[in-house]
Amino acid sequence: MNWMPKTLGPCTIDSPLGLSSAAGDEVPDYVADDRRVLVTAEITAGDRIDERQAFERGGPRARIFFDPGRTTAALLTAGGLCPGINNVIRSLVLQLHHKYGVARILGFRYGFAGLDPASGLPVVPLEPDTVAHIHGRGGTMLGTSRGQREVGTMVDTLVREGVHILFVIGGDGSMRGAHAIAEEIARRGLDLAIIGVPKTIDNDIAWVDKTFGFDTAVSVARSAIDAAHTEASSALGGIGLVRLMGREAGFIAAHATLASRDVNACLVPEVRFTLDGPRGLLAYLEWRLVHRGHAVVVVAEGCGRMLVERDQSPRDPSGNLKLSDVSLDIGRHFEQRINAYFRDRNVPVTLKYVDPSYMVRGVPANAMDAIYCDELARMAVHAAMAGKTDMMVGRWHGTFTNVPLARVVAEKRRIDPDHELWLAVTETTGQPQFV
Ligand code: F6P
Repeated sequence: MNWMPKTLGPCTIDSPLGLSSAAGDEVPDYVADDRRVLVTAEITAGDRIDERQAFERGGPRARIFFDPGRTTAALLTAGGLCPGINNVIRSLVLQLHHKYGVARILGFRYGFAGLDPASGLPVVPLEPDTVAHIHGRGGTMLGTSRGQREVGTMVDTLVREGVHILFVIGGDGSMRGAHAIAEEIARRGLDLAIIGVPKTIDNDIAWVDKTFGFDTAVSVARSAIDAAHTEASSALGGIGLVRLMGREAGFIAAHATLASRDVNACLVPEVRFTLDGPRGLLAYLEWRLVHRGHAVVVVAEGCGRMLVERDQSPRDPSGNLKLSDVSLDIGRHFEQRINAYFRDRNVPVTLKYVDPSYMVRGVPANAMDAIYCDELARMAVHAAMAGKTDMMVGRWHGTFTNVPLARVVAEKRRIDPDHELWLAVTETTGQPQFV
């Protein structure tokens, strides 16, 4: 599979950015198309570097594809919320308008639904004034929704609205949608660029080392753990139980656990565990109460998969399991099982269940996420103006990259139980392997 993104054609227009790119600069201000970011940063001494295993480096190009004065750019936001979406929208609009002088910018409402005339959602014009004050607010000023629409219908809308560039701010499902649109555009031979900006609170999109909003979510999650720890350590037989978001990947749970240092067991969907038996979570909690008097457990909502009953479990419009549904609520399930276990043994426990739920994502971006959102948005505009398409802005080894969507949707980012992150988690919790 190719590592290089597609382009619409040769870049024949001088960039209006007016950067100086002196010959001999180690890192020129304009980035040449042959700059690469290696996938693997480390090699064994003596190994040859395979420069084909590399991303195209993101950044401004000296020559661009689209003539800014004749270009219409459009944005949509899809999938679940995440802190910082409004920051990305604002920076996209300001960069397009002020730096490139793009004539017309549109917003499609409520995700891919906004591209389907059947939804009856009006297209909104976006200008610096429209987005001036949105960055202090969580959520998305454009609205969002889950689920896809018929791809031909969506491309028809883009053509009818005269769109040349579409930015899709979304998670892995939205990147799949963006890729399908890009493929249909290529089939029709249109000069229309599709650029993804990775957005997921779960931090589970491939080839981006961290998604925006994740830091903010981890901070809120840590506050929930702090509360659970305070409650647990102040009660007789105190157990604090915290459920955190993370549908298929437990990155929020793992990072909040590391940030807190007060968690005694962290359960994520990627690592097998059992509740029962001498090596199960329940026996471990009993041991904790005997030896330490209290315990704090963090569980990622995706562990609710163990409660799934074949095809009967509720799903959202994207086909994802609805883990917020009471039937799949792993936190409530743990609460019942823990209380029952200790009741059967006549051990008094005081269990406090803390579920910050949507609080981790329905908040404004913190300072570092706000900066990161701005960087991602500017990189997305540089790529779009240079006629790159069917790609997502990534960040790898701290450097911005242009990643083909085909590669993004082919892989998933998950916690590797043998990798440093999980070793750090189990070191701080001291938990055994619950199998
Ligand atoms: O987008 C990821 C996520 O935040 C998951 O962690 C969570 O399971 C899901 O979205 C819930 O979102 P909603 O209830 O909006 O579908």
